[in-house]
Amino acid sequence: MRRGYFLVWMSILGIVGLLWAVNLNAQPEDILLDDQSVFTSRSRPPVEFPHLRHFDDAGIECSECHHRFKDGENIVDEAELEEDGEGVKCASCHKHKPGFRFEPDLDPTQRTLQQAYHRMCTGCHRQVSKENETSGPVTCGECHPKKKEPK
Ligand code: HEC
Ligand code: HEC
Ligand code: HEC
Ligand code: HEC
Repeated sequence: MRRGYFLVWMSILGIVGLLWAVNLNAQPEDILLDDQSVFTSRSRPPVEFPHLRHFDDAGIECSECHHRFKDGENIVDEAELEEDGEGVKCASCHKHKPGFRFEPDLDPTQRTLQQAYHRMCTGCHRQVSKENETSGPVTCGECHPKKKEPK
């Protein structure tokens, strides 16, 4: 290979690497919620979650969704919310208990991951649309859409 080509390839690799590094630092825009460690045999398709849109466009605080409680108070700090950070994954606290049945007065962390998500996502969407503001989906098929084309 001639030296000129080599240099061109090296600089392309450099640019790609740089873009990749920059992208790693940015907050993820859309997250596919597909927790295969908990939902080992899914009955519904995974959920496309426009993460960025919620806090950038809709202006929702990080702490409306992310939390770490101390003495009943949410003390989560934006700075601790990093990709692969300890308290970011909902499943790290909301664990799945097989055979679990819903009881209203139960410790919230004893609820299943599915319930934690449904309460948070659908709960807020219902609340917001009650206030006649633009809101998110509340029906099963809107969040768990049947696949149109195979990927
Ligand atoms: C606002 C969005 C939203 C709505 C509306 C919603 N879900 Fe979900 N659901 C989720 C999310 C998020 C998860 C967790 C997905 C993950 O991490 O894999 C989930 C998980 C589940 C799971 C466990 C995973 C699986 O596939 O077995 C089931 C079952 C489920 N939902 C059924 C329903 C049904 C039935 C309805 C309608 C009554 C519904 N969902 C409405 C967002 C939603
Ligand atoms: C509307 C709810 C909501 C808001 C607002 C929100 N997040 Fe999230 N965020 C989530 C959910 C749900 C996940 C997925 C958690 C999981 O995979 O268990 C997530 C994941 C993340 C992740 C991990 C990304 C990944 O791909 O693993 C980071 C980092 C993060 N959020 C930071 C933030 C920061 C910083 C803010 C505020 C500027 C914020 N989030 C606002 C709901 C929200
Ligand atoms: C560090 C542990 C931790 C993480 C991570 C976490 N939670 Fe929680 N969550 C809790 C605790 C503890 C409570 C109970 C708070 C209280 O005392 O009311 C709670 C409460 C909740 C509640 C309201 C209580 C209810 O069921 O009525 C919802 C909904 C919820 N979490 C969903 C989520 C979602 C969705 C995520 C991921 C974005 C998440 N949680 C991440 C620990 C955690
Ligand atoms: C604290 C309130 C709140 C929570 C929690 C929340 N959402 Fe939303 N969501 C909204 C609002 C408000 C909108 C409308 C945003 C807009 O279009 O301006 C929205 C919009 C959406 C949309 C529609 C985006 C579009 O393209 O029209 C989806 C999908 C969605 N949310 C999924 C989720 C899922 C999944 C979760 C749980 C992981 C979740 N949301 C949690 C408030 C919330």
